[in-house]
Amino acid sequence: KKRIGFLASGRGSNFQAVIDAIAAGEIPGIGVGLITDNPRAYAIERARNAGIPVRVIDYAEFPSKAVYEEELLAAMRDFQADLFVLAGYMRILGQEIVREFSGRMMNIHPALLPAFPGLHAQRQAVDYGVKVAGCTVHLVDDGTDTGPIIIQRCVPVLQDDDETTLADRILAEEHSVLPLAVKLFCEDRLVLEGRRVRIRP
Ligand code: GAR
Repeated sequence: KKRIGFLASGRGSNFQAVIDAIAAGEIPGIGVGLITDNPRAYAIERARNAGIPVRVIDYAEFPSKAVYEEELLAAMRDFQADLFVLAGYMRILGQEIVREFSGRMMNIHPALLPAFPGLHAQRQAVDYGVKVAGCTVHLVDDGTDTGPIIIQRCVPVLQDDDETTLADRILAEEHSVLPLAVKLFCEDRLVLEGRRVRIRP
């Protein structure tokens, strides 16, 4: 079984979707720990309820991003994880961390990348006026939301959508696509060919 570590900054519903799939026996993995940069993240309660160890590394307590990331990197190494899942981790990771976990760190983003990277992707989609939106699970590289794409799902953008109604529709897809991507990783079925991810049958 693969050892899976998580980073989350907030609500943690994607984290929950993955640990539920693990508990249901759908993923040949074990959740080894959650790291959060936010001491008020609801993801902390979810981890405790599931018996998964939590490390709170409160970003606000560090003098700089560099010092924060030293602590984060040390905590990530401690987990001895095969895979890290960024499940609503709302900071851009520095190059040292990205390089160390290259090929074994994935992120869920609430847009059809390469459209609308960065923050408030669903608002960006509504404001732009696109008629389809969606979500992307991708491997993390040293750009912002630029890494090799593993899976995408699309949803319609409806006439009367606002940021919240669109985000809810996208989130429902996130909750199925992130556990699926984690499952494929744990089954050794993701093959990186250049910047393309091939899924082995
Ligand atoms: C999700 O919609 C996720 O795609 C997004 O934050 C939300 C977290 O929800 N992530 C990003 O925007 C990353 N830039 P959750 O905490 O309930 O999983």
